[in-house]
Amino acid sequence: VIPLSLQRRVEGLLQEHLDRAQLKAENVGGSADDAMSTDQTGDISLDENKDSFPDHSVMERILQRRSLRMRNMQRAWQESPEGRKMMDFRKSLPAFKEKEMLLQAIARNQVIVISGETGCGKTTQLPQYILESEIESGRGASCSIICTQPRRISAMSVADRVSAERGEPLGEAVGYKVRLEGVKGKNTHLLFCTSGILLRRLLSDHNLNGITHVFVDEIHERGMNEDFLLIVLKDLLPRRQDLRLILMSATLNAELFSNYFGGAPTIHIPGFTYPVRAQFLEDVLEMTGYKLTSFNQIDDYGQEKMWKTQRQLVQRKRKNQITTLVEDALNKSSFENYSSRARDSLAHWMPDCIGFNLIEAVLCHICRKERPGAVLVFMTGWEDISSLRDQLKAHPLLGDPNRVLLVTCHGSMATSEQKLIFEKPPPNVRKIVLATNMAEASITINDIVFVVDCGKAKETTYDALNNTPCLLPSWISKASARQRKGRAGRVQPGECYHLYPRCVYEAFAEYQLPELLRTPLNSLCLQIKSLQVGSIGEFLSAALQPPESLAVQNAIGFLKMIGALDEKENLTNLGTYLTMLPVDPKLGKMLIMGAIFHCFDPVLTIVSGLSVRDPFLLPQDKKDLAGTAKSRFSAKDYSDHMALVRAYEGWKEAEREGSAYEYCWRNFLSAQTLQAIHSLRKQFSFILKDTGLVEEDASNNNKLSHNQSLVRAIICSGLYPGIASVVHRETSMSFKTMDDGQVFLYANSVNAHYETIPYPWLVFGEKVKVNTVFIRDSTGVSDSILILFGGALACGVQAGHLKMLDGYIDFFMDHNLAECFLKLKEELDKLLQ
Ligand code: CDP
Ligand code: MG
Repeated sequence: VIPLSLQRRVEGLLQEHLDRAQLKAENVGGSADDAMSTDQTGDISLDENKDSFPDHSVMERILQRRSLRMRNMQRAWQESPEGRKMMDFRKSLPAFKEKEMLLQAIARNQVIVISGETGCGKTTQLPQYILESEIESGRGASCSIICTQPRRISAMSVADRVSAERGEPLGEAVGYKVRLEGVKGKNTHLLFCTSGILLRRLLSDHNLNGITHVFVDEIHERGMNEDFLLIVLKDLLPRRQDLRLILMSATLNAELFSNYFGGAPTIHIPGFTYPVRAQFLEDVLEMTGYKLTSFNQIDDYGQEKMWKTQRQLVQRKRKNQITTLVEDALNKSSFENYSSRARDSLAHWMPDCIGFNLIEAVLCHICRKERPGAVLVFMTGWEDISSLRDQLKAHPLLGDPNRVLLVTCHGSMATSEQKLIFEKPPPNVRKIVLATNMAEASITINDIVFVVDCGKAKETTYDALNNTPCLLPSWISKASARQRKGRAGRVQPGECYHLYPRCVYEAFAEYQLPELLRTPLNSLCLQIKSLQVGSIGEFLSAALQPPESLAVQNAIGFLKMIGALDEKENLTNLGTYLTMLPVDPKLGKMLIMGAIFHCFDPVLTIVSGLSVRDPFLLPQDKKDLAGTAKSRFSAKDYSDHMALVRAYEGWKEAEREGSAYEYCWRNFLSAQTLQAIHSLRKQFSFILKDTGLVEEDASNNNKLSHNQSLVRAIICSGLYPGIASVVHRETSMSFKTMDDGQVFLYANSVNAHYETIPYPWLVFGEKVKVNTVFIRDSTGVSDSILILFGGALACGVQAGHLKMLDGYIDFFMDHNLAECFLKLKEELDKLLQ
């Protein structure tokens, strides 16, 4: 029954190919390690001198000369009129008063923790103080400072700002490096990068040779990369006594970090902000005259038709129930009486049901009645932001560009768009910024006077027991709410409108759970392995708050299953290659398989798409239209992944014809996401060429790209064990995962639009719990694909289904795998006899 040997052959092929690639790489003079330290995989080597000067004293002299030049340039700027003006501004920041004390503390202690209100000058000033003081004391050329940021956009915008403060173009003394972009040069001595980039550097350079100072910024956010970095750096400190580590945090949990580093000194920068008045839902309702129960308001916008289908009727009913709950909450002094279920459903539905129209009402109120000043609106995610933006654009007042400058701010913004956020609007025009969480701490927009806080954040949690990530909108923490409020009042007293009742706020958790405790650890465990620090479990137990051992076991089990770790938990050859790809391990494997089987391009698009985000938009109010638009790309191949490939290719073509904008608009596609996918494709393609896994000759890499079944098989090889069986009943169809749990398809999946699916299995990338468990993108696959390209568990499939294997003769033949195929077939025949 179990054609295990067949499967082993496919795995063997993968192994052989990887071995060959490694040999090739070694022959051209570079090992896999060298390949890793190229720029594209995230190297941040700042020391460009290391190999060019055999003579020590010559090198010394050159360094001295460089240091001297740096000092002269710095002094010249500081004495220039613009330099002075800039200096005056910098001196006005709260951090400046503490400058000397901070420099001394950093010189005396290997680790210090610095906290201070957002905007007091931690990120832009502190690394700069060190740079300036090193330059001033003639050590400029040998100092090398890294400052990590949790997000790309903050690394980029901060680097830009600091170069401007130094009167230099970006890429001189100050540069940045993020996953797809970077600006740095041979004179760069202060580098802002994402925490992920520093982690990648640590993989190949365990001692951070040449680096003198490391700043880890925004540690209070407790992002997974930051928590991980802290373990690695803590381990590194004894080996690098001269290295200085500075941790920076916005809110007041500095003690936690200080204790973690054996009682490192903490310094608080006292800040000054204007008072901000907090108003809760009850006040906001009174202020705007908005009626909670009036769902007709939605209808007022001409969408009466919306309520026609059964599902929508149910939604409406639920919204009305939630409204009652909210009204209840408004009349209660305590939220304690609610069951956790009621709280969850409030978090889930309340912002949807009162959110957009209430936000609109609040914005109108501000524009009509309040003093001048920019408005910052906190939303949950990009989808919400873009729907709200569309709604506001249609509004007579808020959509009038002569009166309102509407800008958005989220993690995947293009650089040009970022600039808009900081721009000063013309007189009498009010700036309204729709932002995600990222405007909470990493980005400071100076002219904000009003903050609108919807109180909800889209947060991934992880259910280790069921090994399922959950994406539930949840209430933010009290710390976040305070932080959001603090964004107003930077230039004059401010107002903050929290769109939830005060008693709901009272029930918020103090702090958000650290990311390490609420995400699957697959990628992380793989990285730990390549750090060569011993057992994964032991390493993670040194974390600030260690993850559950079940979560670690799940991750190790997964890495073994996909062949990245062997039985003894050592990295396999495949695993080593996977650590070079800055992408989820299973997607990395898909990419390598696509290269091996010569269908690189489509697989490249799929992997890039899955690691950026879905380019298919799903606006709240046009779900059906968007779904129909997407299914036009499906062409009956029962695959969201193939639909993605078609959409991307169509976009490229439309771009050539100059009609990309219409194309995106017509098909509910996000041009921005497609652009990001495009950049990521280039990056992956470069890395794979660099490691010798794909050939320079593009046509050869794509010899079999037209072979749909092959592409399907490669998708399966990457996404396995994400599979669900398709169960057909007389009138309905349902889906079951390996552990027999029932799952549902996302409304936007092409497969959700079919009555029947002519494949026994769906492979999927992601299973997400949102009340019930959903699978996002899926592709139909046959038994034979599953058996050949799935992993060990797939062996449970009946051998009788194997006859479809004949369909694969073509790709094995075309691919010089004839011999292998004949062997497979022979074994198969034996099995079937
Ligand atoms: O890191 P922290 O929140 O403490 O503050 P920062 O990012 O260093 O910003 C300090 C000040 O620099 C802000 O209050 C802004 O006035 C200014 N700044 C700016 O004008 N433009 C930027 N892109 C960043 C900061
Ligand atoms: Mg900062």
